[in-house]
Amino acid sequence: MDPLMAFLCLLPLYPAGHCPNPGISVGAVRTGSRFGLGDKVSYRCSSNLVLTGSAERECQSNGAWSGTEPICRQPYSYDFPEDVAPALGTSFSHLLGATNPTQKKTKGVGRKIHIQRSGHLNLYLLLDASQSVAEDDFQIFKESAILMVDRIFSFEINVSVAIITFASKPQVVMSVLYDNSRDVTEVINSLNNINYKDHENGTGTNTYAALNSVHIMMNNQMQRLGMKTAAWQEIRHAIILLTDGKSNMGGSPKLAVDNIREILNINQQRSDYLDIYAIGVGKLDVDWRELNELGSKKDGERHAFILQDTEALYQVFEHMLDVSQLTDTICGVGNMSANASVQERTPWHVTIKPRSQETCRGALISDQWVLTAAHCFRNAENSSLWRVNVGDPNSQWGKDFSIEKAVISSGFDVFAKKDQGIREFYGDDIALLKLAEKVKMSTHARPICLPCTVEANLALRRPPGSTCRDHESELLNKLSIPAYFVSLNGNKMNINLKTGTEWISCIKAVSQDKTTFPDLKDVREVVTDQFLCSGMEKDDNPCRGESGGAVFLERRHRFFQVGLVSWGLYNPCGKSNKNSRQRAPKGKIPRDFHINLFRLQPWLRQHLEGILNFLPL
Ligand SMILES: *[C@@H]1O[C@H](CO)[C@@H](O)[C@H](O)[C@H]1NC(C)=O
Ligand SMILES: *[C@@H]1O[C@H](CO)[C@@H](O)[C@H](O)[C@H]1NC(C)=O
Ligand SMILES: *[C@@H]1O[C@H](CO)[C@@H](O)[C@H](O)[C@H]1NC(C)=O
Ligand SMILES: *[C@@H]1O[C@H](CO)[C@@H](O)[C@H](O)[C@H]1NC(C)=O
Ligand SMILES: *[C@@H]1O[C@H](CO)[C@@H](O)[C@H](O)[C@H]1NC(C)=O
Ligand SMILES: [Mg+2]
Repeated sequence: MDPLMAFLCLLPLYPAGHCPNPGISVGAVRTGSRFGLGDKVSYRCSSNLVLTGSAERECQSNGAWSGTEPICRQPYSYDFPEDVAPALGTSFSHLLGATNPTQKKTKGVGRKIHIQRSGHLNLYLLLDASQSVAEDDFQIFKESAILMVDRIFSFEINVSVAIITFASKPQVVMSVLYDNSRDVTEVINSLNNINYKDHENGTGTNTYAALNSVHIMMNNQMQRLGMKTAAWQEIRHAIILLTDGKSNMGGSPKLAVDNIREILNINQQRSDYLDIYAIGVGKLDVDWRELNELGSKKDGERHAFILQDTEALYQVFEHMLDVSQLTDTICGVGNMSANASVQERTPWHVTIKPRSQETCRGALISDQWVLTAAHCFRNAENSSLWRVNVGDPNSQWGKDFSIEKAVISSGFDVFAKKDQGIREFYGDDIALLKLAEKVKMSTHARPICLPCTVEANLALRRPPGSTCRDHESELLNKLSIPAYFVSLNGNKMNINLKTGTEWISCIKAVSQDKTTFPDLKDVREVVTDQFLCSGMEKDDNPCRGESGGAVFLERRHRFFQVGLVSWGLYNPCGKSNKNSRQRAPKGKIPRDFHINLFRLQPWLRQHLEGILNFLPL
């Protein structure tokens, strides 16, 4: 036999399938071993394990199996957000690689709730208030729903929310047809007011009727907008059922799901226009079979989960959202997921190399401008050699930009107060860099919100007509304000910014530091009103090299830069290892000072006119 024939003889080991071997996951038994077009395989679970995913899959013309990979699991086990997260997105094949090595990721198939500026999203929240769900559990559903609504509205997208509670009968608390379904305050008020007791006289579980009321709502909206119109066809729909499963009246919920799929004309091309998630939260006794039945099954996805608490749900929800389509310069959007990369959590963060050796940090404040510290450019090389790395310096997402223009505050003069015994002075430690090209927005590169701008006003969900002073009193509203800066290795570090009397105590440390300031008469000569102060209590201290980076806080799931790292009394990073921070030795009082952007408004306005839209002072 010639070598070629020998090779061919081996082929029967790999049945000539149109689809790849779909595999068998742990605990499952498969029936069917032909993988040709139209062939079906079915699965069941051994012993008392419960099947999630598709019990039957068919080999489709595109060479992929229909439905979702079946997994066998203990009937009463929770999902962990970190397990669910990959199942929701691109990492799915990675997770299941062991059982299903050949599954291909289908490009362009919607796997998540798409967040995009064009078009409209309808979010239907269905809360189970039947007897099997205790009032405490219902309370958890309510809190979970509020969290999800607050997060989804943080993206400034067009979204309408429907709220339906159900037991024996559904009750439509809010319809996507109501005007106030687009108003986050009204939606959250409605959620706060929903009452478990509204269903006290009919405590069965009619999941069919609940889903059917969604179908009716869709039908009404279709009538109103016109079936053939883009306005109707371009709406994306996400249904989130918070339930323990266990439908016991009204017939199979599956029928309602089929009707919904039909009215939305869900086919392979339109599969990303509908997502149905069935989620149990809390210490519920959940019917896995039914939850699984309800969740939509798309190739390579799971849409049914049981989570321990609202925090776990929030983590999963963060992964359900796909913001890759958000390509405009929306500010201050970071990924709140524990699983996101550090750069995705703070996508405005950039690294600046004004010299071949040392680096500084900075923040994107638009798609072409970076805010940083002036002192980074002392003794710097010729500016044509400076580089700004945007995205993520350690990955393919990172990109170096050269500088078109550098605006370094002319007020900055480190030796300005030498005569007063102040060796270094950091007043006006601020600079702006214009990159040579615009940055393409992505989940790894986006600007932070600068207070006192129209963009920040939208993000804060404040009424138009607000002023810079309003922003300052909203953001710096306490004596001690939790805030962050980004460390050399990209992590978000915690600090507390001090104001008022706390600020006075915070800056006192400067006069106690006789080594740095041997004969200082007045602390305020060094720490002027331009500086925010942190470093008391258990605060992290910035290292050398972290200068210029944003000092920022979070409000309403968005991020706002209130300062920039300028100088401090103690450098916690040793020379050898930049990632290890040491506590200050005895006798050394750490304090950190950050340029307060509210105090440098005139300078910012002078140089960013026409780039950002400033509010009145
Ligand atoms: C999520 O984080 C966990 C550890 O916290 C890790 O094991 C897992 O691989 C991560 N998943 C993804 C998709 O990054
Ligand atoms: C989104 O909503 C705003 C305000 O309601 C409206 O002006 C805009 O046209 C909507 N955009 C789309 C794509 O529907
Ligand atoms: C339940 O029935 C009782 C007695 O008929 C009635 O008083 C009560 O208002 C009903 N509750 C609800 C929420 O309809
Ligand atoms: C957050 O990051 C995860 C992991 O990269 C991603 O799956 C998810 O879509 C992101 N969510 C948001 C809101 O950016
Ligand atoms: C910086 O370098 C460029 C190109 O190498 C040169 O044309 C320019 O004169 C230099 N500027 C200074 C201030 O040295
Ligand atoms: Mg029930």
